[in-house]
Amino acid sequence: MSYIHPLQIGTFSAPNNLLLAPMAGITDTPFRILCLKGGAGIVCAEMVSAHALHYGNPRSGRMLQVAQKEHPVSMQIFGADEKTIAQAAKQAQTQGADIVDLNAGCPVKKINKAGAGCVLMKDELKLGRLIEAAVKAVRIPVTLKTRIALTHKELLAVRLAKLAQSAGASAITLHARAAVDVHSGSPNIEAVGEACAAVKIPVIGNGGIVSAEVARQFLDAGCAGVMIGRAAVGNPFIFEDIAAGLQGGKTAPITAQKRLQIYLDLIRQNVAYYGERIGVNRSRKTAGYWISNFPNAAEMRGQFMRLGTLDEIEKLFTKGISSL
Ligand SMILES: Cc1cc2nc3c(=O)[nH]c(=O)nc-3n(C[C@H](O)[C@H](O)[C@H](O)COP(=O)(O)O)c2cc1C
Repeated sequence: MSYIHPLQIGTFSAPNNLLLAPMAGITDTPFRILCLKGGAGIVCAEMVSAHALHYGNPRSGRMLQVAQKEHPVSMQIFGADEKTIAQAAKQAQTQGADIVDLNAGCPVKKINKAGAGCVLMKDELKLGRLIEAAVKAVRIPVTLKTRIALTHKELLAVRLAKLAQSAGASAITLHARAAVDVHSGSPNIEAVGEACAAVKIPVIGNGGIVSAEVARQFLDAGCAGVMIGRAAVGNPFIFEDIAAGLQGGKTAPITAQKRLQIYLDLIRQNVAYYGERIGVNRSRKTAGYWISNFPNAAEMRGQFMRLGTLDEIEKLFTKGISSL
């Protein structure tokens, strides 16, 4: 059996079954383009509030923008109201999204208080209606991203996969951790496997995928594809590495030097996309992933955090890269 293959999601066919996970504050246009270069089959955007889009929030509107070079792209929306979810899905389609994804897994309190994110996992009626509203509103496939459970007491993966399928979703992504675990702990791959066996729509496995070995476990459990989150930050070429590993090849781990080179390139792209001030600020947020695993990393990170211009950053990186 071939582990790497095109992934059919409803009417959309992606070149491979390795996906970049949506990550707020991280998976913006420059990073998504980088991950496509790194071998991702689909890249997912940061979640956007359907409510904020409804009220014309310009920042949210900009988050839905799709650049020419970033296909296939899935735009993720969150919300608690059928009308605004339908509008947001339409807006994502108009902006050029290939897929629209509904978030029902986010454990952030502010979002849950508004009735969105993981609280939808225990309100199946409402979740079903939200999926249906999105499906009716657009021609592009609608997918659901949720979790295997809210707490350790009860697994919901099978129920939610069946619900997604019957409401018309073209695929479901299951984060193999309970909402109470947020992003830590080992993934419960067995629970994802049970959902794979219960539905016909593709199930995409997510959570703790850092290597071809872990990806293989999800695929062996029946997943049609795997979604990689944090392991892609600091190594956007992990998709190529995992594909090679799954096809029997070997890849060398990324060197600190290569990591810095890729990061500098991303900072340049961020500055080109957002302008210098916002581009540098945004780049800083992920510095811990990139300027790491070499002897003077902490010192270089400290210096980087104090710099405000691309010119200064270029100089620091040139010195850092040549010292390794
Ligand atoms: C900083 C950060 C932001 C995230 N933002 C989102 C988001 O906007 N939407 C979403 O569905 N999941 C979000 N997640 C969850 C990831 O998509 C993914 O499910 C999670 O990180 C587990 O995958 P991993 O173990 O490969 O990182 C976020 C995770 C992190 C670490």
